[in-house]
Amino acid sequence: MPEWLKDTIFYEIYPQSFKDTNGDGIGDLNGIIEKLDYVKSLGANALWINPCFDSPFKDAGYDVRDYKKVAPRYGTNEDLIRLFETAHAKGIRVLLDLVPGHTSDTHEWFIQSSKYEENEYSGRYVWTTNAFEGIAGHPYISGMTERYGAYMLNFFASQPALNYGWLNRTEKWMSAVDSPEARATIEALKDIMRFWLDAGCDGFRVDMADSLVKNDDEHKSATAAIWREIRDMLDKDYPEAALVSEWSNPEQAINGGGFHMDFYLDHWHNGYNTLLRDYEANEEDNSFFKAKGKGDIMRFLDDYLPKYKATKDYGYISMFTCNHDTPRPARTLSVQELKLAYAFILTMPGVPFIYYGDETGMKFLDVRSKEGGYHRTGSRTPMQWDDSKNHGFSDCEPKDLYLPVDQSENAPTVSAQENDPESLLNTVRKLTALRHQYEDLQAASSFKPLYAVKETMPFVYERGEMVCAVNPSEGGIKIRLKEFRGKEPVFVIGRAVVENEVLIIGPQSFAVFA
Ligand code: GLC
Ligand code: CA
Repeated sequence: MPEWLKDTIFYEIYPQSFKDTNGDGIGDLNGIIEKLDYVKSLGANALWINPCFDSPFKDAGYDVRDYKKVAPRYGTNEDLIRLFETAHAKGIRVLLDLVPGHTSDTHEWFIQSSKYEENEYSGRYVWTTNAFEGIAGHPYISGMTERYGAYMLNFFASQPALNYGWLNRTEKWMSAVDSPEARATIEALKDIMRFWLDAGCDGFRVDMADSLVKNDDEHKSATAAIWREIRDMLDKDYPEAALVSEWSNPEQAINGGGFHMDFYLDHWHNGYNTLLRDYEANEEDNSFFKAKGKGDIMRFLDDYLPKYKATKDYGYISMFTCNHDTPRPARTLSVQELKLAYAFILTMPGVPFIYYGDETGMKFLDVRSKEGGYHRTGSRTPMQWDDSKNHGFSDCEPKDLYLPVDQSENAPTVSAQENDPESLLNTVRKLTALRHQYEDLQAASSFKPLYAVKETMPFVYERGEMVCAVNPSEGGIKIRLKEFRGKEPVFVIGRAVVENEVLIIGPQSFAVFA
């Protein structure tokens, strides 16, 4: 387990929308390099960059055409290597996005695999034997290739599934997990990982990590076995490299697959969603951080605690403010509510992720779909740096922007919040500084709810020797807990004091006591 993860705060960058340096309206690697000092000022010390590889961009780059080549619109491989070096010199690690489950249908492997003649890549993807034979229970396409057969999709129509074999094989064309063709896919994946690790990257965020072996068992044990093998490779040859999975089943991903971290994603009705995004799943939005105070921390804890307890000795659960697939939290939360939500995320165990722009409260915009974004596109708009043209994202003509910038009068920007100590941006900075200062607040220190009562505020939890309290509601509260004895606040949002064993916490407040 890389030690550095203990005190790491990630910042996710959607490269399209962070900073454009050559005026073509789309973000680029030089833009990320230019803004590394900003990342550092935020207290983030690691990046996750969404796929920046050659692609026809039918799914924003999650349809990779060449894993070993940076997409020309972002720069060159040399630029990416310079990004690694510049980031490292500033104490920032860089994770790339690895898409192991599928490629673009324009990837050379797929072009070869689609050919009538059998060749080295015939078994690289999942194919049936005949074009009139589908794949029960899975999406597939037929009629597009000279090869006889239908091929399985892993996501969109442009993303054929790579072949890692089938655990439960019911048809002749289903490869075994230890077949030569499934093994060849694993070796190809390792080769891509080695290529970028040798070039200086610090690991990978792994896309749809649970999607490799088809008809896997309920524990996804065959898929996990592949990741375990990859973890062994890392432990042996790249012990400092880190992997975070898009799996959202930490027991399977961490204990089973050997991932260092697993994202706690925003699945409807799950614990994470009840904190920031309770809407749509329920008639009324009772997200825990909403000021109306009708949230229920137990909806979160009942889901989270078993996951935390089962995995805490093996790896970390990663909570995020948002990601490129998720509505931005500012869609429904006010600035004060966001401060409390971020305070919570940044004082929980595991390794937290901040999505670019969430630190200023960037909004979820109503924009039309771009590159397969659909409803996700509203979270992918250009970073708002300042009040100059296109909010400082690009000096192109607005019509040439990759996605429109927030035109509203109160669009949050970095520059407007820079000098206000109470701004959301500076609150995030104080929170990240606090986390870096106290090991008790970092990834590996213990977590225990001290006061968590159904439909009742506040929520009080212990981290190591420290105590955190959050009261999202509009009413002040007093509670007595022996754990407060002798403690003083070291950080407060709103109002909070301790008198003997009594916590007096104001409306919409958060505090850490040591
Ligand atoms: C993951 C990515 C998402 C992408 C999909 C297919 O969920 O986060 O953006 O569309 O996988 O690769
Ligand atoms: Ca550019």
